[in-house]
Amino acid sequence: MSQRFHNFARETGVVSLRALAAEWPPCDASTFLYPRANVGFFVSVCVAPSADKRELLGNPLVVCCLCVFVEEIPDIGDTTMLKDLASLIVKHTVPSRRHLTPELVLRLVTPECPLWRAKEDEIPFKDPFWAFYWPGGQATARYILDNGELVKGRRVLDIGCGCGAGTIAAVKMGASRVVANDIDPYAIAATSINAILNDVAVETNSNDLIGTKCEEFDTILIGDMFYDEEFANVLFGWLQGVRGEGKTILIGDPGRHGLTEKRRQHIELIAKYNLPPESCIENHGFTETSLWKLK
Ligand SMILES: C[S@@+](CC[C@H](N)C(=O)[O-])C[C@H]1O[C@@H](n2cnc3c(N)ncnc32)[C@H](O)[C@@H]1O
Repeated sequence: MSQRFHNFARETGVVSLRALAAEWPPCDASTFLYPRANVGFFVSVCVAPSADKRELLGNPLVVCCLCVFVEEIPDIGDTTMLKDLASLIVKHTVPSRRHLTPELVLRLVTPECPLWRAKEDEIPFKDPFWAFYWPGGQATARYILDNGELVKGRRVLDIGCGCGAGTIAAVKMGASRVVANDIDPYAIAATSINAILNDVAVETNSNDLIGTKCEEFDTILIGDMFYDEEFANVLFGWLQGVRGEGKTILIGDPGRHGLTEKRRQHIELIAKYNLPPESCIENHGFTETSLWKLK
């Protein structure tokens, strides 16, 4: 929303008041945004320092501008189903950069969204994992963005892509091919929307690829998928099998119970990060997240 406001400001010339504020201190220019209401205010107080400029502008000059936004639904495909998914996602999420990879803007459910406090029967989605940026996914994307050589020219498969951050990071860092995979069609739609927001094109796949050979890929990303013991068992066994074929397997995880002590003996710690405050609130008890590589 903030980006949309600034785009609006730039288009309408309001931004020139900000420039004025920067040029003539002591001045202040602030924006107040109410994302859920799609309304923003721009307030600028300019105190012109010299007589000629005061004459021109008055002193102080206070300018207030009220903006009403209309949310655009990104065009993620032609079918009615895709359009419906996209409009529901846009309705219930806001663009956010309050995570470990602020260079990526992602539509997420944040504390400003009614869904954040909604009761289970008020939520129009079943398990909207894609609406949150999980700590494991944050570690994966952060590491890729800081170490682009890891994926440059590689064929990357992001299993359980969720909001799509790992995929978007790999595309941005020059992977030759990246496929965002998730069995939840909402995750595929959210990834497509987030890709558009970050100016990248992504390839998506909604089949269950766990258990398959995935021969077309040499790098596999796993962002926060060890939250369920039974699933962790299947997933880890499969990863060990495909690792044997020479693939690089990167696992982002904040310390979920499915990544047991025994499994940790087969992975190598690559990086550790402190989670930003909002992610700590969202992931009760977790303050750190790590990136691991399967040995
Ligand atoms: C905890 S979320 C993590 C999302 C994302 N990687 C992140 O870190 O933000 C787990 C994701 O895995 C997806 N998932 C679960 N089982 C899957 C499977 N067999 N194949 C692909 N995706 C799966 C879920 O739909 C969900 O989006």
